[in-house]
Amino acid sequence: MAKFGNSIIKGLEISEIITILNRAYADEWLAYYQYFIEAKVVKGIMKDAAIAELTQHAADELRHANMVADRILQLGGTPLLNPKDWFTHTNCGYEEPTHFDVVNILQDSIKGEQCAISIYSTLVDMTRDKDIVTYDIVSQILADEVEHEEDLQALHDDITEFITDLKKSLN
Ligand SMILES: [Fe+2]
Ligand SMILES: [Fe+2]
Repeated sequence: MAKFGNSIIKGLEISEIITILNRAYADEWLAYYQYFIEAKVVKGIMKDAAIAELTQHAADELRHANMVADRILQLGGTPLLNPKDWFTHTNCGYEEPTHFDVVNILQDSIKGEQCAISIYSTLVDMTRDKDIVTYDIVSQILADEVEHEEDLQALHDDITEFITDLKKSLN
C-alpha cells in the first residue's frame, strides 16, 4: 500500500474508491470475455474486419483490468478474487451473444461501451480534485471506451451501408 501516496487523497474515503474500482474491475473482465467470445462466434459479411476490431478491444479491456487492479492494490485493497464476484459487482453486466451475425454482435458491443462510458464518466467526476491518481487512470480508460464506441459504430455503419447497397444492386 502506498502510505504517503494515499495520504494526498482528499474528500473521499479510500474504502469507497476501492469499492467503485472493484465494480469497474468486474466490468472490465466481463467486457474482455464478451469481446473474446464475440470474436470467436461472429459470422457474416465483413466478419474479418469485425474479428480484428473485437480482438483489439478484448486486449484493451484486459489492459484496463490490469490498470484498475494495480490501483486497487496501491490503495491497500484486494481486487475481486473469484470470477463469481464479477456478476455481483458489475455495473454493466454481461451481454451473452445470442445472434452471431456481425451486425447484432456490433450492436451488443456498442451497448456495452455506452455503459462503460457512463460509468467512467461518473468515476472521473467523483475523483476529480480528490484522488488525482485514480482520476488519471479512469480518464485514460474513459478515452479508450469513447474510442471503442466510435470504432464499433463506424464499422457497424460501413457494414449496414454495404448491405443496403448490395440489396439495391440486386433489385
Ligand atoms: Fe474497458
Ligand atoms: Fe471498451
